[in-house]
Amino acid sequence: MLKQAMASILTPEETEELYGAFDQIGTKIILRIPDSLLHKRKIIGEVLLSKVKTADSIFYQSSPVAGDYRIRQLELLAGKEGTVTEYKEHGCRFKVDIEKTFFSPRLSTERLRIADHVGEGETIINMFGGVGMFSIVAAKKKRCHVYNIDINPDAARLCTENVSMNKLKGTVESIEGDASDVIDKRLSGAGDRVLMLLPERSDEFLESAIKSLKQKGILHYYCHVHSDKKSQVGAVATDHFNSVIGVKAEVLEAKLVRPVGPRFYQAVVDAAITK
Ligand SMILES: C[S@@+](CC[C@H](N)C(=O)[O-])C[C@H]1O[C@@H](n2cnc3c(N)ncnc32)[C@H](O)[C@@H]1O
Repeated sequence: MLKQAMASILTPEETEELYGAFDQIGTKIILRIPDSLLHKRKIIGEVLLSKVKTADSIFYQSSPVAGDYRIRQLELLAGKEGTVTEYKEHGCRFKVDIEKTFFSPRLSTERLRIADHVGEGETIINMFGGVGMFSIVAAKKKRCHVYNIDINPDAARLCTENVSMNKLKGTVESIEGDASDVIDKRLSGAGDRVLMLLPERSDEFLESAIKSLKQKGILHYYCHVHSDKKSQVGAVATDHFNSVIGVKAEVLEAKLVRPVGPRFYQAVVDAAITK
């Protein structure tokens, strides 16, 4: 769609260089543009805005997702200023700030998969919960109590708003802080299930994740793995998980979540933990 839209302003060679996909989050579009076409980014943004009737602004992503908050730098190419929008998924509504908080529409299938796994009446600890996406989708689907922890004050504030918007006050609790500190202070041994969606640093927080669980519990461990074959991602992630876990763990499922680079993948390992 993007390439077709650009036929009037780019040469066929330039069109070839353009990445085919972009993310639309509510009314905001985030575009990545190769260095060779950066001088044309404003016109690319303007043409795209004129074609996508549901968008009110187009942003160029000028940095990778980075830092403790896992956020990216954006430059407005066309349309309205402002990075807050509303996004709907699995019957839930979310206020997101595409610049100040992490957000990925590409994790939508994974959010539903986790919600499907949640058992009735469970206590869930979402260690790196962001604006509450996984927590709210799960709590809308199943009767459960979720602690949504995030160190980014903007994410914690938006999570509180999203909890209200989805009428889940008292069911999903937004906690601002470092996941290890929060678990130490008030959630040790509290969880039936713990989510660790900070794949770059999972190993660092593994001890805290285990600490947050009851004597038996389910751990969703996310990591990044290199693999030549997509079909081997689950096995590579399992090998790594088994080498770091350090307590009795039965791997229930291990799978690819999404590609994050050439032969580089985000993977999840679901494991039953006994302490
Ligand atoms: C990859 S994002 C995932 C967010 C959310 N689970 C989602 O899918 O939308 C990781 C999140 O962890 C948060 N974070 C980073 N370090 C943290 C820490 N030490 N304790 C709690 N949250 C942290 C970041 O602010 C970010 O929102």
